[in-house]
Amino acid sequence: MRFSRRLTPLAHNVCAQMDQAKAEARALGRTVIDLSLGSSDLSAPAHALAAIEQSFRDTTSHGYLLFAATQNFRLAVAQWIEQRFGLQVDPQTEVLPLIGSQEGTAHLPLALMDPGDIALIPNPGYPSHSGGVYLAGGEVYPLPLYPEAGFLPDLTAIPGEVLRRSRFLLLSYPHNPTTATATLSFFEEAVAFCQRHDLVLVHDFPYCDLAFDGYRPPSMLQADPKRRVTIEFFTMSKSYHMGGFRIGFAVGNQEVIRALRQVKAVVDFNQYRGILDGAAAALTGPQDCVQAGVDTFQERRDKMLYYLDNLGWSVPRPEATLYLWAALPTPWREDSIGFCTQLVRETGVALAPGSGFGSLGEGSVRFALVHPPRVLAQAVTHLGEFMRVKV
Ligand SMILES: Cc1ncc(COP(=O)(O)O)c(C=O)c1O
Repeated sequence: MRFSRRLTPLAHNVCAQMDQAKAEARALGRTVIDLSLGSSDLSAPAHALAAIEQSFRDTTSHGYLLFAATQNFRLAVAQWIEQRFGLQVDPQTEVLPLIGSQEGTAHLPLALMDPGDIALIPNPGYPSHSGGVYLAGGEVYPLPLYPEAGFLPDLTAIPGEVLRRSRFLLLSYPHNPTTATATLSFFEEAVAFCQRHDLVLVHDFPYCDLAFDGYRPPSMLQADPKRRVTIEFFTMSKSYHMGGFRIGFAVGNQEVIRALRQVKAVVDFNQYRGILDGAAAALTGPQDCVQAGVDTFQERRDKMLYYLDNLGWSVPRPEATLYLWAALPTPWREDSIGFCTQLVRETGVALAPGSGFGSLGEGSVRFALVHPPRVLAQAVTHLGEFMRVKV
């Protein structure tokens, strides 16, 4: 059989390698403590679940759902954007429901690029950002993110001939995997840059609420209040712990929203109405569940940093996200996959190898703090035993 050449750059899949190593650990009888996926272990808000349950029993919710019927959800999004960021958006033309934000960012290149066009994508970064570009037949121009520069790209270093062929710039802060954050003034520079070079500015913003010690991450929409170039992607997976429900949304420039809607009209019939109702209830109902989640992840961050520090592993303190991004000890600096696969096989502790996020992620690992402190402490005990032998 012959398959599309577009699949070639997708062949290197670190997740699949880790999955295999986890299965081997289980086959050896080990209990796997999985810190490799950013899938929140907290439960979705009770009022969201009640709304889903109610829709579930209403048989009129069981059929296909066309765009017009998603209005209740789009109104809830517009109301949330106003409360959260003080911006008014049109729920008809500037809001689009998604089957998770990953679905949206991965489909967007089909709406923006022709084969051979370039997308400006950070390295390291979330793998589906470049995956979507490859599926659209586009080329990725990697924007290196270095710790010395706070993991912010140097937009002035992009060559002119690359810019001429580029269709969009993707940014995502608070950043997965590095946990870096960006200021509103950096976002304003990015908006001006995209206006100057006729680029769409795509901002993936899943960790908009998961920020600590009172820090509130800025929205790209605040830097581009008239939505001249920006589309921003939001998810219910992190703030409301609804990852398995597959629900997110995009807000931004109406032409870009319309183009993405055209692509999606070929691909899907929107998310199930019950889940849209649950997400609308989460967005418009009491928000103390969001703060409770933030408090939980902040406590885990503090405890995990303390446990790792006791091992002699000093890790930067993130202001946001549900991750820690840790540089590996010297013998493993060039083999994060080797470190993670051996670690899980020998101890059951699964971490995400940095190289899975791009070549500049090599030499680091990402801890997802998706278990209570008691389990995190166990993971660090196993990690300590492993490192005493291997480092
Ligand atoms: C940067 C980024 N984008 C998108 C997603 C996935 O979001 P969703 O569950 O809405 O598809 C994640 C999940 O970890 C992420 O870190």
